[in-house]
Amino acid sequence: MPPSSPQTSLDTLLELRAKARTLRRAYLTGRPLASDAEYDQLIQRIQTLEQAHPESMGWDSPGLVVEGTPQQAFPSQRHAVPMLSLENLYSTAELTQWEQGLLRLAPQAKFSYVAELKIDGVSMALEYRQGELTRAVTRGDGVTGEEVTANVKTISNLPHRLREPLDLDLRGEVYFSLEGFARLNETREEEGEPLFKNPRNAAAGTLRLLDSAEVGRRGLRVMIYGLAGDPPHASHHQTMAWLKGLGLPVSEQLEVCPTLDQVARFYERWREHRESLDYMIDGAVVKVDELEWRRVLGETAKSPRWAAALKFPPERVRTRLLEVRVQVGRSGVLTPVALLEPVPLGGTTVSRATLNNFQQIARLENQTPHGERFQQVRVGDWIYLEKGGEIIPKVVGVDESARSGAEQPVLPPQHCPECGGAIQSLRGEVELYCVNPACPAQLFRRIRHFVSRDAMDIDTLGPVLIGQLLAGGLIHTVADLYRLTEPQLTGLEGIREKSARKLLDALEASKTRPLDRLIHALSIPNVGVSTARQLARRYGTLDALALAGLDDLKGMWMLKNNKGGEVAEGIYRFFQDDAQRALLTDLARVGVAPAPVEAAPQQGPLAGKKVVITGTLSLKRQLWKERVEKAGGEVSSAVSAKTDYLLAGDKPGSKLDDAARMGVRVVTEPEMEDLLAGKP
Ligand code: IVH
Repeated sequence: MPPSSPQTSLDTLLELRAKARTLRRAYLTGRPLASDAEYDQLIQRIQTLEQAHPESMGWDSPGLVVEGTPQQAFPSQRHAVPMLSLENLYSTAELTQWEQGLLRLAPQAKFSYVAELKIDGVSMALEYRQGELTRAVTRGDGVTGEEVTANVKTISNLPHRLREPLDLDLRGEVYFSLEGFARLNETREEEGEPLFKNPRNAAAGTLRLLDSAEVGRRGLRVMIYGLAGDPPHASHHQTMAWLKGLGLPVSEQLEVCPTLDQVARFYERWREHRESLDYMIDGAVVKVDELEWRRVLGETAKSPRWAAALKFPPERVRTRLLEVRVQVGRSGVLTPVALLEPVPLGGTTVSRATLNNFQQIARLENQTPHGERFQQVRVGDWIYLEKGGEIIPKVVGVDESARSGAEQPVLPPQHCPECGGAIQSLRGEVELYCVNPACPAQLFRRIRHFVSRDAMDIDTLGPVLIGQLLAGGLIHTVADLYRLTEPQLTGLEGIREKSARKLLDALEASKTRPLDRLIHALSIPNVGVSTARQLARRYGTLDALALAGLDDLKGMWMLKNNKGGEVAEGIYRFFQDDAQRALLTDLARVGVAPAPVEAAPQQGPLAGKKVVITGTLSLKRQLWKERVEKAGGEVSSAVSAKTDYLLAGDKPGSKLDDAARMGVRVVTEPEMEDLLAGKP
């Protein structure tokens, strides 16, 4: 390489890194733009340049991406200061008890509080170095999160540069405004994408997009609520005012409260007026204001003692049940949907609600999530509705005193409401299914799912066109999509040659999407993106998956709870079905040949190690499982002679005896932390 001035090589470096980012994104979305060798060469060049200019390392330097996985979209980052969570309190009575606890720990204490709103979003660690926003990392399991800097940099109310060149480690909440959320879901509805359940899920999903430009379009926002480590001011409210002065977005609704009574009033006030905000809150947060006292009170392994979340109870309204409609899902499940007299709830007007399943409606007594019991629901009833974390609220009770006697029982359908076909209930399941494989409603939903972004990603095939293709008899299964010809398409109303070509190209390109996408696209009951990925990794090919035995499938789920068993049975039954088998053969015949998926990491401190997890742990078991797998380990459900470690929490049960008998090493959580960190 010819010698170059420092400035030109810096420019080149920035360009090369941008190129690497583009290639990485393309690779991850299943549409690689370069060969692996070309990509590797590019990374080499970047690293050579970076070695010559270490000061130019940036957030997207390949060297900062976790070792061994240069294609990882959101590299793991360990938090220098762990991101804790808050203890939840559900009433002002619990708030008083909480204060008593503080006073027992520090009897001579004299402190005031700060009350804030608890925004329902995604917590984020934000790193500024010399005043520049250098890194944004999600909370993850509190110890390690995912780096999402490029996406967070698109947030318009977050400055990339502070008014002073400071080093700061901030904590904040990334969220959607209610309007932004509604807009996003409207677009998704139009495009036939599944809707986000609530603004929090939408924010989490958006932060994980590979396309930062799309993140920018969606319009996330951020609110700063604290600092990691010790702030430079004597009180929290002063610290927050100082952060505001640096140009950072902090809450306008922060209130210094000399007494707990004032905190309680803040909570009650916002509980009543939460509707006036243009974002979702799920409670208030109370914090000790004086930093000196915070230090004295300290923290437990999970949460600081000096703060707590005061959560709102779910909002409940009363309205009339007008009709029960039956909806046919893509796997044939029949779901009863309540049509209601419209009523305002949680910031929107509600006119539909979920009624779980027919068995539950028909049962004489139902139970709400809070343990209350209520009578069977009838059409014409005045019912109570609650909105939990979902957009579609739940029916949680019946006002029996309002019955006139004219209410009509809700009867399960005898036929599929869409195709008139036969209905079946499956052994051990409460759901009813339409078992007609040619049911047009099912087919329509299956095709929409098949082409959706997380599945085969054929974005030029919208719902209107799918309807035209079905109505014209041009397709009867998803495999038929691949038989479409240009004359067939241009023969449809509103389809020009150019869009026909575009669709055919998109279909062609989709034939080699990675296997996990195809598995997800097939509409196997309960198989979402992550289960599809697990299945793809475990079985390697669609044929191997189709031939998997029930026990083998069940063995995939570490927690052999009912849900795992149900998922395994659903998958097994799906592939036993003749129509589905015929479809798989047909997909192969039309040239669908999925690319193999990346194997689980073969590197890492636990590579090749088998781990069993038991007992009550301080982190959710699923998180431990993910952490072990990320480190290259494999988690299984039962202790055997092949097991390397038994991670044991409180009350480990019989697995501890098994481990002792078989000479398996038993480790505690801190010991597992060491193993994950590569210490022997
Ligand atoms: S203070 C040690 N203040 O709620 C954690 N958290 O359940 C200190 N949150 O993870 C958190 N608004 O993501 C704090 N004003 C606020 C907040 C807030 C929302 C979130 C945050 C945290 C979660 C705790």
